Amino acid sequence: MKRTRSIVRGVGSYLPKRRVTNYDLEKLVETSHDWIVQRTGIEARHIADDDETTSVLGIRAAEAALADAGLTPADIDLIICATSTPDYTFPSTATMIQAGLGMHHGAAFDIQAVCTGFVYAVSTADKFLASGSHKRALVIGAETFSRILDWKDRTTCVLFGDGAGAMVLEAQEGEGTSADRGVLTSQLRSDGRYREKLYVDGGPGSTKTTGVLKMEGREVFRFAVGSVTDVVQDAFDATGTTADDLAWFVPHQANRRIITASADKLGIAQEKVVITVDRHGNTSAASIPLALDVACKDGRIKKGDLVMIEAIGGGFTWGSALIRW
Ligand code: UT7
Repeated sequence: MKRTRSIVRGVGSYLPKRRVTNYDLEKLVETSHDWIVQRTGIEARHIADDDETTSVLGIRAAEAALADAGLTPADIDLIICATSTPDYTFPSTATMIQAGLGMHHGAAFDIQAVCTGFVYAVSTADKFLASGSHKRALVIGAETFSRILDWKDRTTCVLFGDGAGAMVLEAQEGEGTSADRGVLTSQLRSDGRYREKLYVDGGPGSTKTTGVLKMEGREVFRFAVGSVTDVVQDAFDATGTTADDLAWFVPHQANRRIITASADKLGIAQEKVVITVDRHGNTSAASIPLALDVACKDGRIKKGDLVMIEAIGGGFTWGSALIRW
């Protein structure tokens, strides 16, 4: 049965100018390049200057995605921005990006699902487009996690980076089979019992401060490898596809060891896995669109390829989306 699909028209990304290596961090906290590489795979990350706010990064990424799609802001009627590091408590970063693009029409709002934010945003945009209410969506993941890190805590400050990525999705009619282009399925989960494993210890409604990130790394690691693969399997089951059908696996980029262990568990060949954590660090909701942009621009992801995105983040939240490019 024919149905409306959300087709990827373009992708883009933007990184802050300042690149910070592990060697730079050795001067800040008791750590070493070798420890960081061995435990996480991270070699460098980009850190935003004060004037490079989340919305500024998001605007640059959105402009790049629009250029890639050959479209202008006039062609867009929906902006969804996934972020946990908004410029302000309100208005939403999405409306600031909308204004920055010179757009006065359509609807714009933020999604808060921490590192799973981009998957939640893709899923939400897909449902808007499938309903017929909107025609073209800019889906953005933009973060400045450097602003909510405790730069004296070596167990967290070496892990994260700043950046933004964006994707243009367009409603097009498909045949309703897994051979269609576009978002074929998305699977979202959350379990709020895990709040204390990964959270920020402040907020407007509690401490009236921004707070800093707190994480029980080992516990998050265990959950990420042990439990999160269910959403990938559910996406395969929902579409009648298997790991062998995948062209690319583009998971949230938190830790190389989590990524390779998850791929092994799912039977996904390592050469199909896109890894950018080495150069970006963990950029939370921005990590997947940043990785997608790298793999599109270097020619790996091509039209027709089956691409699985997957993430886990604070909450816990987790999810996947299977997209035929
Ligand atoms: O994006 C949201 C999801 N977040 C994640 O996916 C992060 C998940 N967790 C992880 O990636 C890993 O657990 C970490 C990279 C955070 C830590 O790796 P680990 O292998 O789990 O190390 P650990 O926490 O068990 O720590 C091992 C040792 C400890 O020392 P002792 O207690 O064995 O003496 C730490 O104090 O490494 C020490 N350590 C460090 N040493 C040098 C912790 N951080 C550092 C550091 N440099 N930066």
